[in-house]
Amino acid sequence: LATAATALALAVTGTSAMAACDDGEMVIKFSHVTNTDKHPKGIAASLFMERVNAEMDGKVCVEVYPNSTLYNDDQVLEAMLQGDVQMAAPSLSKFETFTKIYRIFDLPFMFKNMDAVEEFQQSEVGQDMKEAMVRRGLLGLGFWHNGLKQFSANKPLVAPTDAAGLKFRVQPSDVLVAQMEALDASPQPMSFSEVYGALQTGVVDGQENTWSNIYGQKFFEVQDGITETNHGLLDYMVVTSVDWWEGLDADIREQLSTIMSEVTTERNAAIAEVDMENRQAVLDAGGVIRELDAEQRQAWVDVMKPVWAQFEGDVGADNIAAAQEINA
Ligand code: LMR
Repeated sequence: LATAATALALAVTGTSAMAACDDGEMVIKFSHVTNTDKHPKGIAASLFMERVNAEMDGKVCVEVYPNSTLYNDDQVLEAMLQGDVQMAAPSLSKFETFTKIYRIFDLPFMFKNMDAVEEFQQSEVGQDMKEAMVRRGLLGLGFWHNGLKQFSANKPLVAPTDAAGLKFRVQPSDVLVAQMEALDASPQPMSFSEVYGALQTGVVDGQENTWSNIYGQKFFEVQDGITETNHGLLDYMVVTSVDWWEGLDADIREQLSTIMSEVTTERNAAIAEVDMENRQAVLDAGGVIRELDAEQRQAWVDVMKPVWAQFEGDVGADNIAAAQEINA
C-alpha cells in the first residue's frame, strides 16, 4: 500500500515533472538524470518541487528537469558554478574533481545495507561531508538514498571470473575503475544517458547499478541477467552553489532548507520499499535475476575488497573504521 506521501509524489510525477512559474517568482532549476516515476531521486525531487511551489507560492518556484533533459552529470556542476542551474543531485561517484572524500561511498562492500549507510551519513563525519566542497563553490544540502548496486552483463555472472575480459560501463570514479580492474574487466566511464545504447550495441558488455536505475533505464532488456551482488552503494548529494545559496534572503534560505531536510528524511525512510518495487518490476517485465549464496558472494568480496587499500589515503583510515564499526 502506498503511503499518502508516496501517493502524492506519484501523482506529481505522473502528471508533470515541470512546474509553470509565475512572473516575479524566483526560479530554481533542479536538473537530474533519472526518470521520475518509481525512482527514489525522481520522487524526492518532484516532492521537493511540489512542496516549495505550494508553500512558497508567489516567492519561489522550482522547475525539475529529469532524464538528462537539461544537463548530464558531467556538465551540471560546471553549469551550477556559472549560475545556469541552482540544484542537482549527482551520485557521490561524480564529484571526483571536487573532493576525494566521497570515495569512501564507492569502495566495494563498505556498507552492509542502507541502514548502515544512513547511520554513517548521519554521524558527525558524514554530516561534515556536506561541506567538503565549499572551497570549490559547492554546498551539499543532503544525502539522498538510491541503494546498493548489482552487476549485469550479456552473459551470466556467477563467479567473479565470469566478469574477466568484459567491458563494463562505470560512473566516472577512480574507485570504480580500480574495482573493475580487480575483476580483470575493462572499465568504461560514460554518461548515464548513453548506457542503454552502449549495452544494446555491444560497445560495453555489462554495467553496475541499482534496481531503480536498472528498471528505470530498462537495462535488463539488453542484458542476459542481473546478479544480486549488493556490492557497492549508489547514493546522491543534493548540491547547490555556495554563492547562490548565500545570496538568498535568510528567510527564503531557511524555508528551503527546512523543506529539503523534511523531504530528505521522508524519502530516505522509504528507500527499502522503492528499491524492492523496482526489483519486482524488473522481474515482472521479464528480467532475469540471479541470487548468490553466501559462498558465491564471498568470492566477489575476496576479489574486490582489496581495492580499499589503494584509496585509504583519500578517504581516511579512521573513516573506514567508523563505517566498519557501524556494519558490525
Ligand atoms: C549513474 O550514472 O549510473 C547514476 O549516477 C545515475 C543516477 O543519477 O542514479
